[in-house]
Amino acid sequence: MSAIIIDGKALAAEIREKIKEDTARMTSAGIRPGLAVVLVGDDPASKVYVRNKKAACEEAGILSEEYTLPASTSEAELLELIHKLNNKKDIHGILVQAPLPSHINFKTITENILPEKDVDAFHPYNVGKIMIGDFDFLPCTPAGVMELIKKAGVSVSGKNCVVVGRSNIVGKPQSMLLLKENGTVTICHSKTENLADFTKKADILVVAVGRAEMIKGDMIKPGAVVIDVGMNRNSEGKLVGDVDFSTAKDVAGYITPVPGGVGPMTITMLLKNTLKAAELSSKIDLK
Ligand code: GUN
Repeated sequence: MSAIIIDGKALAAEIREKIKEDTARMTSAGIRPGLAVVLVGDDPASKVYVRNKKAACEEAGILSEEYTLPASTSEAELLELIHKLNNKKDIHGILVQAPLPSHINFKTITENILPEKDVDAFHPYNVGKIMIGDFDFLPCTPAGVMELIKKAGVSVSGKNCVVVGRSNIVGKPQSMLLLKENGTVTICHSKTENLADFTKKADILVVAVGRAEMIKGDMIKPGAVVIDVGMNRNSEGKLVGDVDFSTAKDVAGYITPVPGGVGPMTITMLLKNTLKAAELSSKIDLK
């Protein structure tokens, strides 16, 4: 058996087309959605992510402002910029790219972004809203994963959902979104004993651990939906996920590739959140 590939690139393009139309409608109504992306230091991967986010905004017609600061920037200086952006009328969303240099506390920074401009949904207020299932912004990667599962045409309700990874960015919020859709959710992590016992029972398996190709085909339930959030370089320098695609594709029912699966969806959800932030702040109803 060979799994059906869930094409994240195609789905992202479809959703971005709709975002582009809505952005044009908002702009004609006098409000052009605007996103500020802040990059501190010169982490090469972060530079690529920021460049991609900026390009996606421009493509959708969203105003994008990039703030690139040196690694020597102090926490106080970064906070000063955040407060300036909080008060900037043409900026509806603020994203501070992680990781930050070690002398800056990411938590302090996210807590200082206005919750209504927090398009990453990292502010404790927005995290709390996700926990109670009443949210304005969904965290970008987990929201993209939910769209991919929907695209596969598989209902989450009543299914065994296993999330491997417990990060604040993916694993924890992902579990909440699956739970909201009535999945039976198990969270596994680096200390989980006998990981395969759990993954083999998953009808829906979401993997976000950051370890190249660690989930092999024999750890997957036949026919399962497998969503690979990982983005790693293997020993040959090739971009690979957390799932060993070559063995997993013969067991899973549906699988996302790397690249071309979750990645394009994450940025798409960021655009969606920026549009939503502009919509909420301007009271323009796009429906
Ligand atoms: N670094 C890696 N992923 C993310 C993300 O989703 N948001 C931000 N702000 N930084 C990241």
